[in-house]
Amino acid sequence: MTEADAAASASQREDNERMDFPEDFLWGASTAAHQIEGGNVNSDWWQREWGHLPGAPVETPSGDAADSYHRFGEDMALLADAGLTAYRFSIEWARIEPEDGFVSRAAIDHYRRMVATARSLGLEPMVTLHHFTNPAWFARRGGWNSDAAASRFERYVEAALPVLEDVDLVCTINEPNMVSVLADPDIGFPSVGLPPGVPAVTDRLIDAHRRAVHLVRGAGCRAGWSVATQAYQPVEGAEDVATEYGSSREDVFLDAARGDDWVGVQAYTRTRIGPDGPLAIPDDAERTLTGWEYYPPAVGDGIRNAWARAGAPVIITENGIATADDQRRIDYTRGALTSVHACIEEGVDVRGYLHWSLLDNYEWGSFRPTFGLIAWDAESFERHPKHSLAWLGDVAKANALR
Ligand code: NOJ
Repeated sequence: MTEADAAASASQREDNERMDFPEDFLWGASTAAHQIEGGNVNSDWWQREWGHLPGAPVETPSGDAADSYHRFGEDMALLADAGLTAYRFSIEWARIEPEDGFVSRAAIDHYRRMVATARSLGLEPMVTLHHFTNPAWFARRGGWNSDAAASRFERYVEAALPVLEDVDLVCTINEPNMVSVLADPDIGFPSVGLPPGVPAVTDRLIDAHRRAVHLVRGAGCRAGWSVATQAYQPVEGAEDVATEYGSSREDVFLDAARGDDWVGVQAYTRTRIGPDGPLAIPDDAERTLTGWEYYPPAVGDGIRNAWARAGAPVIITENGIATADDQRRIDYTRGALTSVHACIEEGVDVRGYLHWSLLDNYEWGSFRPTFGLIAWDAESFERHPKHSLAWLGDVAKANALR
């Protein structure tokens, strides 16, 4: 082989390996208010963490978390400087409506400043209206178990509309399939697998979603919600069991997204299903810090299912790995993005990838599972970007995986 042939074949190999993403693909990271802001004292989670409400005993309370309530400008700047183009964050109902019927103008103003900051840095803000936490007063009045839940949520969304003035993408409710489970105080926060949701709560969440979609569309935004997808994989002969598992835990929520402007996929791992239900993770499988199986292509399975059921453009609103080994985070993300790219090649309309998470954060009971592209010092809150942030930024700048 001549030198020229060798060079041509090397460049051919590079071309083959280069995976281009569609024009205007969103590249970013996600967070949730309670997990990073700190001091979310009027929420049901705070009150649970500090022992004021029964259920969900936690290893560590969220406390100051990452103090991102005050440091959001610095956090967003790190994201933008790395080359990413989108930031998904949630606004906190317990801050906007800390008491039943009282709307805090200061909280609205705070979140408007966040949107303005994102825009000024060139980041597309995606705003989540509900990410697991509720105001304590709402929980005391029955939470999602009350028939008034959807109208209470609707009233809050209406009050929050000024935050959305300069926002295009709105996620109404994060992982309604998880919220439906959390509404049962005997279940608490599941660490492995997802029990089926409480049917009446599922109905209320769908009702709340529809009311919110109506409001935010009226305000000129594009609405959707984000479902926890599990990649239920049947072993031979367990296909029906897997279908049954998926239908009550996931599909009902994806079906409800039909007619939305987009649907959000959140994927981390798979659940293998045998004739009697979920199978244990094999002893020799690699596990992440959440105890989940290391399985990067889960997101591809989630995308295909969401696309088939909701028939709406897909945005990956969360995907990531809890690990102390940042190189492993890069490996995982590369594997996940390879499966995202395969879906795009198959013709699925995928519009963006938002990594979970921008920061190490409060993983609902503990700070140990570190999902962040950025670490921070527990005493000083000083930010320490990890190599994975620069890596993902390079992918974003190239709009390609090489
Ligand atoms: C999904 C949830 O939306 C988020 O709050 C959580 O931290 C991640 N999964 C990881 O468990």
